[in-house]
Amino acid sequence: MKILITGGAGFIGSALIRQLRAQSKAEVVNVDALTYAGNLDSLPGLQKDPGYHFELVNIADRTALEQVFREHRPDAVMHLAAESHVDRSILGPNAFVQTNVVGTQTLLEVTRAYWAELSHAGEPGHSPRERFRFHHISTDEVFGDLPANAPAFTESTPYAPSSPYAATKAASDHLVRAWHRTYGLPVVITNCSNNYGPYQFPEKLIPLMILNAVAGKPLPVYGDGGQIRDWLHVDDHATALWTVLQHGEIGATYNIGGDAERTNWQVVEGICEVLSERRPTGPRGGGAYADLITSVTDRPGHDRRYAIDSTRIRTALGWRPAHSFDTGLRETVQWYLDHPEWVERVQSGAYREWMQQNYASR
Ligand code: NAD
Ligand code: DAU
Repeated sequence: MKILITGGAGFIGSALIRQLRAQSKAEVVNVDALTYAGNLDSLPGLQKDPGYHFELVNIADRTALEQVFREHRPDAVMHLAAESHVDRSILGPNAFVQTNVVGTQTLLEVTRAYWAELSHAGEPGHSPRERFRFHHISTDEVFGDLPANAPAFTESTPYAPSSPYAATKAASDHLVRAWHRTYGLPVVITNCSNNYGPYQFPEKLIPLMILNAVAGKPLPVYGDGGQIRDWLHVDDHATALWTVLQHGEIGATYNIGGDAERTNWQVVEGICEVLSERRPTGPRGGGAYADLITSVTDRPGHDRRYAIDSTRIRTALGWRPAHSFDTGLRETVQWYLDHPEWVERVQSGAYREWMQQNYASR
């Protein structure tokens, strides 16, 4: 099986590719534009792997995409490429519309034309055309703000996105469903909760707090820090994606979550605790890690709570997470302590500019 993965140089895409190449026979074509969030250092050793191919292509570039499909002839597409950071979408929504909406629509059109030409030959249900899948990877943020005591999001929760990021992801989900309903494209959709783990770009909560804490910089908690997210280890997400691609029902949606709701304060305090054990010398400049926690101006439109009900994927496909949040967080803190070269390379000039733009006047 040859799988075209978009966004394979990002946090989740790279975890998926590392897992597929280590644990399956699937060949991978990684289509990535290498934005600030894309990093080939997150795919160590794969450049020499004959079952891995890299294409430096923007998903909004139709001609380049057509060429990739002609050359590699994939059996499935797993679409992860996106602008993914909520704070960036608030400060500059254009790139989000361009990649998440226009890019997804371009990819759908190129995929549809390719799929329409695939052969019907073979046993019923097993021809290349019938076996083809388009798997769209989305987020729980499309469901919007969940009240404190409300039941977790299910696959039929109405969409109510709050941020420009979430609105563009919701739009992309609608496009994918429309391409299934109108043109018959064989799609599956997954909506996942917050991921954490190794190789995550340090603009997101967990790696940002780990690296700031070690450097003795403030730990900027937005608002009162009582917002709740449901955390899932990225390797568990990758396992869920592979399970859905192979066994998911065409046209269906699957929610994926870790059953690990935590407030942001709990997460940040947890990171400080792990650091106190693993690096007891304390932060650069002295003091205790937890003393660095600082309340800053809240994110506009900040969703108070997300929680995922993943009953469908658990009962229909037998998936469940292998990591608990507490052990996963420990391993993640340790990973960042053990990989200073990776960290130094991603904390480039562009990263420093972002830190200035988002935090200087908060
Ligand atoms: P990321 O920002 O780490 O990586 C995105 C990747 O897409 C990068 O490699 C980037 O170079 C690439 N990319 C961006 N624009 C592109 C374009 N126009 N053409 C080609 N490549 C482009 O994102 P992530 O956290 O790995 O998220 C991957 C997907 O999973 C996204 O669709 C996101 O919405 C979804 N998701 C993320 C989370 C999470 O917690 N991170 C949770 C649920 C769903
Ligand atoms: O829920 C899935 C989503 O999770 C994905 O679709 C997104 O791509 C991913 O970025 C993530 O979105 P969040 O906005 O939840 O993640 P982030 O790491 O940016 O923030 C997590 C929480 O921490 C959120 O409530 C905002 C808060 N936060 C974040 C940062 C960066 C802070 O308090 N301080 C910070 O500096």
